[in-house]
Amino acid sequence: MRHLLSLESLPKPDIETILASAAAMKRSRGQPGPLPLAGQIWALLFSKSSTRTRVSFEVGIRELGGNAMFLNAADMQLGRGEPVKDTARVLGRMIHGAIIRTYAQRDVEEFAHFSGIPTINALTDEEHPCQIISDIFTFQERRGPVAGKTVVFLGDGACNVATSWIWAAEKLGFELRIAAPAQFQPDKKLLSRLTKRITCTEDVNAAVEDADLLYTDVWVSMGKESEANDRLAILAPYQLNAAVVSRAKRNALVMHCLPAYRGKEITEDVFEANADTIFAQAENRLHVQKAILAWAVQ
Ligand code: CP
Ligand code: NVA
Repeated sequence: MRHLLSLESLPKPDIETILASAAAMKRSRGQPGPLPLAGQIWALLFSKSSTRTRVSFEVGIRELGGNAMFLNAADMQLGRGEPVKDTARVLGRMIHGAIIRTYAQRDVEEFAHFSGIPTINALTDEEHPCQIISDIFTFQERRGPVAGKTVVFLGDGACNVATSWIWAAEKLGFELRIAAPAQFQPDKKLLSRLTKRITCTEDVNAAVEDADLLYTDVWVSMGKESEANDRLAILAPYQLNAAVVSRAKRNALVMHCLPAYRGKEITEDVFEANADTIFAQAENRLHVQKAILAWAVQ
């Protein structure tokens, strides 16, 4: 039994196992195969909106032989103040695994500790590990090993998606450059926990030079809506547009975890020119989620 709580805490061999298993899951989809979740009931306990993560996990659980139960946290006693550790001890006696999307990273960790069942982080304010494993899978499908390549993240360098990219770079041996305004640079305490150097800059042009992958995410993450006006103004120079793409390698991939806000973090033309990659990223969430579930129950 294993938890996936963050990329920071996920060892490199486990990331590699999940990536290899996702490729096998993708190849064999629809054919008879092992059902590692047979007889199991998994809950998705979500406090924030979701399309891709929810659907890919619900479908993935069923394809692996299990049953999925979606629980909107606001409808539970959690929403009226029941502690996470009590909710965890109740659910741990009834179900076989939990997939949690919430605000505080410590809530997912506390749930894992008290429930005694495999617990997967489906996005917190700090990390989005399932997304970035899937993004690396997509990159490698199209461009080969990510090790030795240059990945550039543009935009909110302090958001959950950027943080999971930082931990992926620490573990998988690619160069990561974060181009973000001073207010949205990665947290210094987080950077002090790294053993490898990543580049953090306010200079978009310098960051994207010769990049193999250009990546962006929304400027207003869930829970940050009250800061929307300031964020849109401050982050405007960090848009992923045709001028930025022209500075990267000619065959650079453009990726976005979705949902995308055209005219904000990415332009309509750049999005549509790269839609095939971006929607492959979305599809690959399913194959990678299945690999994570199979890994978690080992
Ligand atoms: N990328 C992603 O996690 O999408 P959802 O918010 O729709 O799950
Ligand atoms: N950083 C975004 C990711 C959405 C999938 C958010 O937290 O809203």
